[in-house]
Amino acid sequence: MTNYVKIFDTTLRDGEQSPGATMTSAEKLEVARSLARMGVDIIEAGFPAASPDDLEAVRRIAVEVGNQPKGQTDAKVPVIAGLARANKSDIDKAWEAVKGAQNPRIHTFLATSPIHMKHKLKMDPEEVVQRVSEMVAYARSLCADVEFSPEDAGRSDPQFLYVVLGEAIKAGATTLNIPDTVGYTTPDEYFNLIDGIIKNTPGMHDGITVSVHCHDDLGMATANALAGIQAGARQAEVTINGIGERAGNTSLEEVVMTLKTRHPVFNLETGIETQQLSRVSKLVSNYTGIVVQPNKAIVGANAFAHEAGIHQDGMLKHQTTYEIMRPEDVGVNQTMLVMGKHSGRAALRARLAVMGHSLDEAELDKAFARFKELADRKKVITDADLEAVIADEFYRPRDVYYLEGLQVSCGTLGMPTATVRLRGPDREIYNFASMGTGPVDATYKAIDAIVKMPCKLLEFNIHAITEGIDALGEVTVRIQSDNNNDTKMDAQSELEYARVYGGHGADMDIIVASAKAYINALNKLIIAKTEGTQPLQNNFGVMLG
Ligand code: KIV
Ligand code: ZN
Repeated sequence: MTNYVKIFDTTLRDGEQSPGATMTSAEKLEVARSLARMGVDIIEAGFPAASPDDLEAVRRIAVEVGNQPKGQTDAKVPVIAGLARANKSDIDKAWEAVKGAQNPRIHTFLATSPIHMKHKLKMDPEEVVQRVSEMVAYARSLCADVEFSPEDAGRSDPQFLYVVLGEAIKAGATTLNIPDTVGYTTPDEYFNLIDGIIKNTPGMHDGITVSVHCHDDLGMATANALAGIQAGARQAEVTINGIGERAGNTSLEEVVMTLKTRHPVFNLETGIETQQLSRVSKLVSNYTGIVVQPNKAIVGANAFAHEAGIHQDGMLKHQTTYEIMRPEDVGVNQTMLVMGKHSGRAALRARLAVMGHSLDEAELDKAFARFKELADRKKVITDADLEAVIADEFYRPRDVYYLEGLQVSCGTLGMPTATVRLRGPDREIYNFASMGTGPVDATYKAIDAIVKMPCKLLEFNIHAITEGIDALGEVTVRIQSDNNNDTKMDAQSELEYARVYGGHGADMDIIVASAKAYINALNKLIIAKTEGTQPLQNNFGVMLG
């Protein structure tokens, strides 16, 4: 058995199913690029049957990330997978979406637990076996690489799973993914499940990859995934920061760093460049608006912080006293790029290239202008600062409203007041002044008065990207449309209203960063509501779709 574990990232599919993780097409593309650069083997780019927008987003990723970059012939190219229920229409859409990739994969699934078969599918076990066999064969008639998942395998009868999976192999599936859909199993149980499948499934052979897919409802997603790997699974389905349905999925960084840090225990390899973990975690958090808890393993802000005196003393004597991994192994120690007023475009271009951003001349002009503005106010600019600028400048949705100016007065004497100037969709300039309970509240009230898009602010988070008084402040918000008229909505509109939109803004002035984050989220909401689509345009006015 190989000692290589394939990393299958489903941040853009299962991860995007977490409330509020909605990303724009441009953001999804950038996440996919970052995953590919980091060495992910398979990117599940989405669920194409969910909507024409989802199909289009997967198609773009398949074409742009799933092929050799121009001028290169030996770069590692990830497999691009699209999810499909076990029916022809979904499978056709998944194929339509992924077929432009060099290595496309159709991932189809059907539930196998008694609860799901009876209450959700209303199918008896024989019908399930028959459907799996037909639909895997159909997917295989379109695509050479087919993955099958028996949904809710964690609560399925193992004997029945052997039969279903045997039929999937017979019909042409080459990857069998075993989802603990509701995060129910314990590590021992999941180990036995994978072990039993490998030993008892008819037709199992070396060309079949068994895969783990665990959810974190009881906090055991990573432990379960690793137990499955110890039982012989050689693909791990994971998400960045562990985002996903309900309590989330197994986190990519935890599995990868466990295999690396405890190499003598597992004796297994992955193809992940772990120094990129911190950067990609940040990117996903910014785009989804889902903040990483400070004590999150590997990528949390405190993962490498040593507060207690005893720990600090030990660390000073020797790093290994309290550290099992080096922060630089996951990219935490940011390279300092000391650039000032006189630093040039070439240096910036070179640094961005190392970070994986290849900008054209127009893009570099924009990035350089933002960089100079920052260099005027901040002495040392780190990769994290640059990353925030790039995210803020290039991967926010198309600007419906754009912040032209902001003036705030606050403190202990008098009511906090904000005057906001926005450029609107018609390129008109709008000014509005409001008072509020604090400077952010006043700013948001003024923005609301101009934009007139009723919404609820669900979450507001602020933090400093780097240390020091001149740190760049970063704000993430999550908003939801507020249906305050009484008209009864159809199901589609209700879905739209229930959707949560994340926004991100970075600036040295935290009130400006707050305004940018709010406008960023509002722009996503406005585009979704007025055009009924995901924003497909980047900030250079170039249609991505
Ligand atoms: O958790 C699950 O069952 C899934 C499948 C669709 C693979 O995400
Ligand atoms: Zn899942």
